[in-house]
Amino acid sequence: MSRIETLIASMTLAEKLGQLTMTASSFTVTGPVIAGDSTESIRSGAIGNLLNMVGAGPVRELQRLAVEESRLKIPLLIGLDIIHGHRSLFPVPLAEAGVFDPVLWEATAREAATEGAADGLALTFAPMLDVSRDPRWGRTVEGSGEDSWLAAQMAVAKVRGFQGTDLAAPDALAACAKHFCAYGPVTAGREYASVDISERTLHEVHLPPFAAAVRAGVATVMPAFTDLAGIPMTAHTPLLRDWLRVRCGFDGVIISDYNAIRELLNHGVAADLPQAAALALHAGVDIDMMADGYRHGLPVALERGLVSIEQIDTAVTRVLHLKERLGLFADPYGRCRTLESAATITRRRALARRVGAQSLVLLKNGHDVLPFRKSLRRLAVVGPLAEAAGEMRGPWWAAGVPDNHVSVFTGLRTALPDTTMLYAQGVTIEGNDTEGIAAAVALCDQADGILLCLGEAAVMSGEAASRVNLGLPGQQDALASAVLARARTLRKPCAVVLFCGRPLTVPQLVADSDAVLVAWFPGCEAGHAVADVVLGRVSPSGRTAISWPRFVGQIPLFHSERRSGRPANPADKFTSKYLDSPNEPLFPFGHGLTYGRFRYSNLRLSAPALKVRDTLEVRVDLTNEGRSAARETVFVFTHDVVASVAPPLLQLAGFARLELAPGETGTVSIAVPATQLKILDPDLAPVFEPGVVEILVGPRADRADLLVGAVELQAG
Ligand code: NOJ
Repeated sequence: MSRIETLIASMTLAEKLGQLTMTASSFTVTGPVIAGDSTESIRSGAIGNLLNMVGAGPVRELQRLAVEESRLKIPLLIGLDIIHGHRSLFPVPLAEAGVFDPVLWEATAREAATEGAADGLALTFAPMLDVSRDPRWGRTVEGSGEDSWLAAQMAVAKVRGFQGTDLAAPDALAACAKHFCAYGPVTAGREYASVDISERTLHEVHLPPFAAAVRAGVATVMPAFTDLAGIPMTAHTPLLRDWLRVRCGFDGVIISDYNAIRELLNHGVAADLPQAAALALHAGVDIDMMADGYRHGLPVALERGLVSIEQIDTAVTRVLHLKERLGLFADPYGRCRTLESAATITRRRALARRVGAQSLVLLKNGHDVLPFRKSLRRLAVVGPLAEAAGEMRGPWWAAGVPDNHVSVFTGLRTALPDTTMLYAQGVTIEGNDTEGIAAAVALCDQADGILLCLGEAAVMSGEAASRVNLGLPGQQDALASAVLARARTLRKPCAVVLFCGRPLTVPQLVADSDAVLVAWFPGCEAGHAVADVVLGRVSPSGRTAISWPRFVGQIPLFHSERRSGRPANPADKFTSKYLDSPNEPLFPFGHGLTYGRFRYSNLRLSAPALKVRDTLEVRVDLTNEGRSAARETVFVFTHDVVASVAPPLLQLAGFARLELAPGETGTVSIAVPATQLKILDPDLAPVFEPGVVEILVGPRADRADLLVGAVELQAG
């Protein structure tokens, strides 16, 4: 018998259910804490998994209780939400997506895993793979934006980064693909609300990133809190069992979300905890996070005949197998290492600075206001996000502490030792007090450059942070218009930096400003990263991975929408448009300027026709006609001209980056496998339909900016 079989043979029911139970320490709380003190429960084997605890010392102590003082000596599995870094935070995922570099995506996850594992952790609840086309939804910040194919690319990089090449290595974390699935389209962007989308959208948009994560070997999956057309994901047998386990072959561990099994009662699909537990177990949920539904519900469910002991054993086997794969039996303390070296931390922070700078998106740069001259004598840094180190963490800061973060003011002061730095907060992020605006405006008179730092607080995005107004909160608009007006009158260079976890609806601010730089939440090196870009040490290269609406009323807004039978025509009232807003976003997917100026030419396709096994090579020349070296991100979109199902206007199919000096010309080459051009036919079966597909190449999802070629798909 294998170790696992032997263990299962000797386990009591309570010990088995302990292995299916995950309970929280009080380090981070995102829901009701039901389980109380876990010490005795670990000793008795009633709890086999923990979340939300940090630190090699405490982890070692609890692990010791499990492997030395419990009867079966089974190590604990301990997890935390390491979303964009552990102690050293990187940019939030939405920002990092905009770097469009799988190597960097993987590198930051690797660093986060190394740091988290050194703190005793073996599991992270990341990456979040929910596609979001609704920025009202606060969790938009946790994912890679509006595009499903992009989410799949990022899924693969993140799973690789967190898990490394060997899950048993002391610096590897089990990743968790969450939230399965279609959490993004919650009704009206309201957190936890019901989801009701078509089967087609489910299969075209929301499932592919999870399929990619499974192919990449993700160790665990977490169902979403939400219901999908009335079936809560925690109990969704067709998707969890039939699609995920059977069709995709996922044989890892499914971990419920926080208290989600008990919440099946609130959903109204279970009358009591035993029934809720039975529903989840049937669907294939192995670990119950924080509901105590398995521990208290499954014994009754067994008596009622709602579940079988074989089902429980299957779940226990999966959990023990994961612990084995993580090397926890071999060395339960392997991840509880002492402090990392200063050199390691320095290297990690250097990466955070590099990725941070590359994630900033320059939305607008009229009169080439940015970069600021380094010879500025006096620089005014104004606004509620200017000296706000803690906010730079963004939501989900794991073990990142405010003191470990660099504010914009500090970053600029460090970069400009000879410049007199002026600071005024003006207003708070959300408050109504406008008294400080006059002092902020007065600073403009003294300065010869102004940086206005505005946006959301970190906690205004993330879980339980939906908003219906996506403008600047509090009195920031008043501050902005006063400062921008003064700067204009004085003809002083003034740039806006926006911190946010989602696109904001700020058309007026954009119209009134010469330059707008979106910093999202850049993490621990925020201030240095912003300084690098604002002062031109780094040319901005980040692209927005989500469309920026002008008005909340345009949501959902995304580049891959279908054309409709009445595409917008300004000359025809009866076409698809608004009376009071353009259809187009303020900034489309992929938008982001650099300090260079790129001309695209000479689009070449490797073949005029493709069969399903072929790969299309898309090549385009770029010339940097600007005065600064810069890195350009090039996108390939496809558009099926005629298909059995109305095709999306643009579909992302590839991207590449190229760095060019002023005057230099280079070529990018992007491979598009023909299988990627398959569509789901009217019965949702993947097919390679013969016909013409347009290949569009350029800097953003706006047809006007794209070079167009075409290729013919041929059967056979
Ligand atoms: C609830 C969140 O939905 C999930 O993303 C997270 O992993 C868990 N809480 C654990 O913190």
